[in-house]
Amino acid sequence: MQFIDLKAQYAVLKDKIDEKIEAVLSAGQYIGGPEVRELEEKLAEFVGRRHCITCANGTDALQIAYMLYGVGRNDAVFCSDITFVSSTEASKLFGATSVFCDIDPRTYNIDPSSLERQIKAVIAEGKLTPRAVVAVDILGNPCDYDAIVPICEKYGLILIEDAAQSFGASYKGKRCCSFGDISTTSFFPAKPLGCYGDGGAIFTDDDELAAVCRSICVHGKGPKGKYDNIRVGLNSRLDTLQAAVLLPKLDALRDYEIDGRQTAASRYNDALGQALVTPFVDEGCVSVYAQYAVLARDTEQRDRIAAHLKECGIPSMIYYPTPQHALPVFSREPHYGETFANANDYCARTLSLPMHPYLDEETQRTVTDAVLAAL
Ligand SMILES: Cc1ncc(COP(=O)(O)O)c(C=O)c1O
Repeated sequence: MQFIDLKAQYAVLKDKIDEKIEAVLSAGQYIGGPEVRELEEKLAEFVGRRHCITCANGTDALQIAYMLYGVGRNDAVFCSDITFVSSTEASKLFGATSVFCDIDPRTYNIDPSSLERQIKAVIAEGKLTPRAVVAVDILGNPCDYDAIVPICEKYGLILIEDAAQSFGASYKGKRCCSFGDISTTSFFPAKPLGCYGDGGAIFTDDDELAAVCRSICVHGKGPKGKYDNIRVGLNSRLDTLQAAVLLPKLDALRDYEIDGRQTAASRYNDALGQALVTPFVDEGCVSVYAQYAVLARDTEQRDRIAAHLKECGIPSMIYYPTPQHALPVFSREPHYGETFANANDYCARTLSLPMHPYLDEETQRTVTDAVLAAL
């Protein structure tokens, strides 16, 4: 059994993907070109933003966002304690400080009250300038934007939506990748919209920001082209072949994969809801379940389930074993008295089960029977 069955998806989309790849190979244009332009237009339209600029991966997308705003030394970047290191990694490259916040124990996303406490603590201490909030839609479940946006406005903070895990999800009728000043996503193969290698994108409604973003992606190119370098940039582009793969995958995601993920999640919820804590999706939100994570009673029970699944040949994963504040790379970041009680508890008990839109009922029953047998 596969944890995320990319081969099952390829079997369904093979003809369309092969045809697109073949077209790129025949045309012989491997960087940029019509596929990349078409994809950017379709992605922007899908999420409801004016601009989409594709780039090399989701980490670069975040780095570019930090570059666009000049986030750096003496700046505080606020982020959930439960995420992948990429969310604030690049801001540290530029000398900023990551200030982690505890999570909402139901959604596992940043807790707006912890966010405001941390902002106030930074202001009270007076050493760092509060600069940006990175809202990560963790496991594919959107953050509470009605609470986060006013906090960012109140303190004059840039809001970056890290939608690496939530492409296709939505919050109160608005798609993820459309929140905040700028949003970023990843097309890493296992993501809800994944390519066959690395890829990423940046979204914004701001025309000027979008133009600077395009410049940064190509070595800080100027109006006269790529040898007219007007700022320090990167070489961060989505390969044409990856755009060709993503075009039919975007159609599949929109047409049936988001629904397929809801069906798979409901089956798990029905089978496991009495025995374990199953995912909570707030009213008006649609999660894409980049991961389907359950919470066991405690670490012992979680590890017992994982061990039994392994014996049965069923893969499971822990996203994430360590909260950000406890990672060695962030050992010097200030905590301002935050205990991260919810994030610690989450990491101690979480377990992700096989999840993708092509899961059939029988396979899911095999998983849930094994989980229940372990209990
Ligand atoms: C929340 C989050 N942000 C950023 C990234 C970075 O994306 P990439 O792997 O494409 O660099 C990931 C990837 O796992 C992620 O999960």
